[in-house]
Amino acid sequence: MRDQPGYLLEVNFDIPQELRQSYPYNLPVLRTLKTLKFHPSVTYIIGENGLGKSTLMEAIAVYLGFNPEGGSKNFNFNTYASHSALHEHIRVAKSHRRISDGFFLRGESFYNLASEIEALDKGSSYGGKVIDSYGGISLHELSHGESFWALFMNRFSGSGIYLLDEPESALSVQRQMAMLSRIHQLVGKGAQFLIATHSPILLAYPDSIIYQLSTEGIEHKKYQETELFSISKAFINDPDRMLSILLQQSDD
Ligand SMILES: Nc1ncnc2c1ncn2[C@@H]1O[C@H](COP(=O)(O)OP(=O)(O)O)[C@@H](O)[C@H]1O
Ligand SMILES: [Mg+2]
Repeated sequence: MRDQPGYLLEVNFDIPQELRQSYPYNLPVLRTLKTLKFHPSVTYIIGENGLGKSTLMEAIAVYLGFNPEGGSKNFNFNTYASHSALHEHIRVAKSHRRISDGFFLRGESFYNLASEIEALDKGSSYGGKVIDSYGGISLHELSHGESFWALFMNRFSGSGIYLLDEPESALSVQRQMAMLSRIHQLVGKGAQFLIATHSPILLAYPDSIIYQLSTEGIEHKKYQETELFSISKAFINDPDRMLSILLQQSDD
């Protein structure tokens, strides 16, 4: 059953021919994609801006019953319905092993989530406050990076699926590294992650599968074979050389 909690095995795409001319079905990634298999621990989706990473993440999240704006299944706020209808044309196969937690993090809408937690806590007079499971301090009173960190360290319990869209966007390089340790801890407790990222650090978790999107479609890559790795490495190894190329280009 669709709402039955369980770990993700694979997602199957079944897009009617008559829809293929329009967004999101005309995205290169969806042209040939039939099945995407998830790694039991961490599945990464990487690739240039605009190739469809967020569209894919959202479709899977909405299919699973998460709010397209992000959050856990308890959140139903809807400030701006911008998600596509792709979720209507996919099927997600899940394992029978039950899970008790889940979260969909959409970078752009973290602010809305913080507001929703405050609203929920204002409205309820009994039981624990929602904010307590996020570290106790209003997420509006923390920096973007701090609030994400509070969520990640406090709210995620381990026995669940976590869909994170560019979680590195607010994090320092050190915290991106620390995030790898925390992912490892949570994986040890049974967590499964689906992560869209541009961070060469966050991408390094070894017990994982990496899907790289391009204008040609989607490819399975090893960490050190990804563009993200090789381009970052070329820059860090020789910034002067890279800069001379980049600044030369912009002078032309
Ligand atoms: N509602 C929409 N209608 C038409 N095109 C859209 C819509 N939302 C996103 N797109 C386009 O779809 C492409 C993929 O977007 P997105 O999934 O956000 O990419 P990514 O997360 O990989 O950067 C982009 O080129 C974007 O402009
Ligand atoms: Mg995106």
